[in-house]
Amino acid sequence: MQNIIRELEQKRAAARLGGGQARIDAQHAKGKLAARERIEVLLDPGSFEEWDMFVEHRCHDFGMADQKIPGDGVVTGYGTINGRLVFVYSQDFTVFGGALSEAHAEKICKIMDHAIKVGAPVIGLNDSGGARIQEGVASLGGYAEVFQRNVMASGVIPQVSVIMGPCAGGAVYSPAMTDFIFMVKDSSYMFVTGPEVVKTVTHEEVTAEDLGGAVTHATRSGVADLAFENDVESMLMVRALFSYLPSSNQEKPPLVPTDDPADRLDHSLDTLVPDSPNQPYDIKELIYKVVDEGAFFELAPDFARNIVIGFARMDGSTVGIVANQPLVLAGCLDIKSSIKAARFVRFCDAFNIPLVTFVDVPGFMPGTAQEYGGIIKHGAKLLYAYAECTVPKVTVITRKAYGGAYDVMSSKHLRGDVNFAWPSAEIAVMGPKGAVEIIFRRDIGDPAKIAERTEEYRKKFANPFIAGHRGYIDDVIMPHETRKRICRSLAMLREKKVENPWRKHSNIPL
Ligand code: HXC
Repeated sequence: MQNIIRELEQKRAAARLGGGQARIDAQHAKGKLAARERIEVLLDPGSFEEWDMFVEHRCHDFGMADQKIPGDGVVTGYGTINGRLVFVYSQDFTVFGGALSEAHAEKICKIMDHAIKVGAPVIGLNDSGGARIQEGVASLGGYAEVFQRNVMASGVIPQVSVIMGPCAGGAVYSPAMTDFIFMVKDSSYMFVTGPEVVKTVTHEEVTAEDLGGAVTHATRSGVADLAFENDVESMLMVRALFSYLPSSNQEKPPLVPTDDPADRLDHSLDTLVPDSPNQPYDIKELIYKVVDEGAFFELAPDFARNIVIGFARMDGSTVGIVANQPLVLAGCLDIKSSIKAARFVRFCDAFNIPLVTFVDVPGFMPGTAQEYGGIIKHGAKLLYAYAECTVPKVTVITRKAYGGAYDVMSSKHLRGDVNFAWPSAEIAVMGPKGAVEIIFRRDIGDPAKIAERTEEYRKKFANPFIAGHRGYIDDVIMPHETRKRICRSLAMLREKKVENPWRKHSNIPL
């Protein structure tokens, strides 16, 4: 018995040391934490329950039979974040560069299977050289097993990926199918093919950082939702994200009581919208002033900045915020912003998170780049997402709601539950100038007449009342009472139940 206990301790110690102290030191020298250290920051102290510490690979080729490290390059198990259960895997770069073997994949699959069974989120900390080259197709099979589980878990439990080192080739597709991707600046990268292959095939010279670093993916590609300075910050931000999310699609998000009164008024909002319709303002000011304690967890803040998305709370309950941003491209919808917001709307719908939408949108972005890029299909994604979703939807039109974009942005016609407009709202097929130039084309040579017609159109249509007459707007509210009116609406909608017709799955325009 004593021998077994001693052996157990030796095996545990070997597993904890991973690829050895020298490799752990090398990891630290790159500014990275080791796999277990990351878990310690991520989870509540002492809550981690590790599984499969003694798992070893089964490869005999290329001298691998003599190179076995207990745990095989990935630390797996479960623990808690603020007392709530989460499953986690953390790839250990010190063991074969964190490369994924058949056994390594089996460990990840085991925790994913349990997470789906019990209804708890999965967090993957990725730091890996990809498929374990010595294992060949067994490793590829392992990846595919993980992919399959990512898909089965999608919309059932939240899945978060943090990229904390290399993530290349087909390996990128597991994070790609999870709900959120966080990256660490300067130490992580993701690409399907690396700089060498790119150079050979397209003759482009690009560094790994420029091709697939955290900043690239958080600003250009939109693959990453957020980029952080270091490992510790990224772990703490995952904890913060989790405070907004339910554990599964069977639950509502957690309630976080607040001292911020639900009926708090903010008179500074009465002057937020400038007098000139062409002058921009920052929609985030409205968000910060309306949500509980001004706390807004923004996602993808540096990608498609013409739309703002993220989580906040209203009277203690999580909401998903979607808002056009007049500061960027006048708040137009384009390909990137439509995709960004559509995916967020679908996440919220899958996980019972009500949506609050702030609208100031002059329309869809014109141009060949948009048309050739498929704005028709991509714009339809956001329309589709709003139309399909059944969670409570509260909409506030602050200024422009023109044309098709009016319909798209959680309008009454797409089953918006409560639709408010500020007195400054302009709900019309298009702006006054464009409208007059079309319907009074014969007067185009007469600037005085055009100005007169424009003013006439503005008076008639550039207001919230035409929509109000038809009940498309439930009420015209004063900006200062926006928080109170949204909180009341959400309370009224708490037990909302709507079901879509049965189908195998819908067919969103991809
Ligand atoms: C086995 C690997 C490995 C791998 C790295 N190592 N990648 N072992 N399989 N894929 C080992 C190295 O031999 C080394 O072992 C240790 O990990 C650290 O690697 P280094 O190269 O010393 O580290 P670094 O200089 O930081 O470079 C990291 C790296 C590089 C950029 C990840 O190792 C690399 O390019 N690796 C190969 C990447 C790759 O081509 N993977 C397959 C991609 S295809 P020692 O013992 O010396 O410490 C793929 C398909 C997935 O993944 C398909 C899914 C559908």
